[in-house]
Amino acid sequence: MTEPLQFRLTLYPEPVLRKVADGVAAYDDELRATVRAMFDLMYASNGVGLAAPQVGMAKRILVLNPTGKPEDELALINVSIVDRTGENTLYEEGCLSFPGIYAEVKRPERCRVKAWAPDGASIEREFDGFVSRIIQHEYDHLEGVLLVDRMSAADKQRHKAALQELVDRYRSRAASTARAR
Ligand code: CO
Repeated sequence: MTEPLQFRLTLYPEPVLRKVADGVAAYDDELRATVRAMFDLMYASNGVGLAAPQVGMAKRILVLNPTGKPEDELALINVSIVDRTGENTLYEEGCLSFPGIYAEVKRPERCRVKAWAPDGASIEREFDGFVSRIIQHEYDHLEGVLLVDRMSAADKQRHKAALQELVDRYRSRAASTARAR
């Protein structure tokens, strides 16, 4: 018996969010437990997608569910976006690592993805609409790219205080951790 994993969300500007994530080497029970725990945390946080750096692991693992129905769960391991097509569209995005901050981001309508399922089965598929949007947002996390990098200068200005508050909170957490050592 293994203990169920429990993750916490990493918040901007925790450094792990800026790392380029590493590939996953084995499609094993540990990976499947990680994926399950990521789904659990995503649902508990009312999110539609979550990338492993958001639970403190710089690994190429994404989970998403555009509807919340169990049959719509999608876990993408070692994912790459091989093509992006269609018109660039603006759509409001949030991010669990930026609580309360929303901004319109321009992305192509469709993306073609190559990945593996947690059991090692290969996946190659094109996605469009909301799912494509989620995948492109989550994929950014694997490259260390964040919502704050994608928002317009005007939105960045509009969210200046909220972003600064996240930075201040991170600094005070880091300082109290340093004191506890
Ligand atoms: Co995000």
